[in-house]
Amino acid sequence: MSLKGKKILLGISGGIAAYKSVELVRLFKKQEAEVRVIMTPSALNFVSPVTLSALSGNEVLINLFPEVDPSKTETVETKTWHVYTGLWADIFIIAPATANTIAKLAGGISDNFLTATVLSARCPVVISPAMDEDMLNNEITEHNISKLKEFGYWVIPPVSGELASGLHGVGRMPEPSEIFDYADMFLTGVYAKRLLKGKKVLITAGPTYEPIDDVRYLGNYSTGKMGFSLAKAAVQQGAEVTLIAGPTLLKTPLNVKRIDIQTSDEMFSAVKKNTIGMDYIIMSAAVADYKPVSIVDGKLKKSKDENLTIETIRTADILKYLGENKKNYKLVGFALETENEVEYGKDKLAKKNLDMIVVNNPKVEGAGFGTETNVITVITRKGLHEKFKKMTKYDAAKIIIDKMVEL
Ligand SMILES: Cc1cc2nc3c(=O)[nH]c(=O)nc-3n(C[C@H](O)[C@H](O)[C@H](O)COP(=O)(O)O)c2cc1C
Repeated sequence: MSLKGKKILLGISGGIAAYKSVELVRLFKKQEAEVRVIMTPSALNFVSPVTLSALSGNEVLINLFPEVDPSKTETVETKTWHVYTGLWADIFIIAPATANTIAKLAGGISDNFLTATVLSARCPVVISPAMDEDMLNNEITEHNISKLKEFGYWVIPPVSGELASGLHGVGRMPEPSEIFDYADMFLTGVYAKRLLKGKKVLITAGPTYEPIDDVRYLGNYSTGKMGFSLAKAAVQQGAEVTLIAGPTLLKTPLNVKRIDIQTSDEMFSAVKKNTIGMDYIIMSAAVADYKPVSIVDGKLKKSKDENLTIETIRTADILKYLGENKKNYKLVGFALETENEVEYGKDKLAKKNLDMIVVNNPKVEGAGFGTETNVITVITRKGLHEKFKKMTKYDAAKIIIDKMVEL
């Protein structure tokens, strides 16, 4: 688990989005992170510290001048607890960050436990501004946010949607899972190894749909989870990632440029257009091997014959094209094999001029399409092959990226 043992300080200020932070604490705890929550006095109007202390397993820090507990020995630490809390954390996330708290931070004001701790924190500070759109667009707030960025604070951009005021616009705090992804990225990516800093990576993901008529298609069960996890893992290592995605309901990982396509032809042209300047190309999409020879205009009618035969032709072999036209990129392919995985994998690696191939067998429990997990074997051009146990697709993606960097 990427956040296991990480020390997360979560600051909650007095905005409506404070309710989302309750879920955020749960997500961090699920990943076995240590969580301490600081609330501003205003935040107490929005969520209860009782809930947050129960979920985090720690007393919620609110008062800069707490009443002395006679059962505890008074030490420098207990007296200046805000300083020690700031030193304790691996990351300090303020979500939601109100316009007021942002203004205070930009001005160096330290009049409550949250703001005082920010000033003494040595870890990265991340703020998630959340407020009404007019408050956000106010020049003073804009100025304060850019000032914080200049000081090196990380800012999670607010998103668009319905606001507490009933108005619609930009200012919402992203969902807890997205804030979690940012924290994960900052802790395991940006502040970690950054193996792909300055590198460009092209990834394909998901299925392709090959239309039969206006309402039907030939497709497969791929959900795109593996490719999207690869995109996330590559971004976390500092790469500039372009993701060409077939039809999928998945959300675009943070900081990934996404190009949506439907058919194998569209995928092929998107790939061709985007190979220039790439350092790595990972073809994890489940591209159809065959497509109908022609597409029926409108809806194909039921005929009197019982059987329907659809004539198909081979689709373009994108991986082969990339292997034959290889320039300065390393090429990673995927193979889904139901038998003799390693043998077929090695064969495909040689035939398609790949640098690495990831093989999985959908018949193995926990591998293949639609599952949350995968069981992968990584084979490289140098003849190395390594089989990994069942793990989440995201963990598998992190291994694949590590292996790819070693190429
Ligand atoms: C119902 C209600 C909702 C509010 N929501 C927000 C908000 O989403 N963002 C914000 O910046 N301020 C919001 N405010 C205003 C802050 O609560 C107010 O500025 C407060 O002083 C913030 O204090 P703090 O930054 O110390 O937590 C809201 C106020 C009320 C009454």
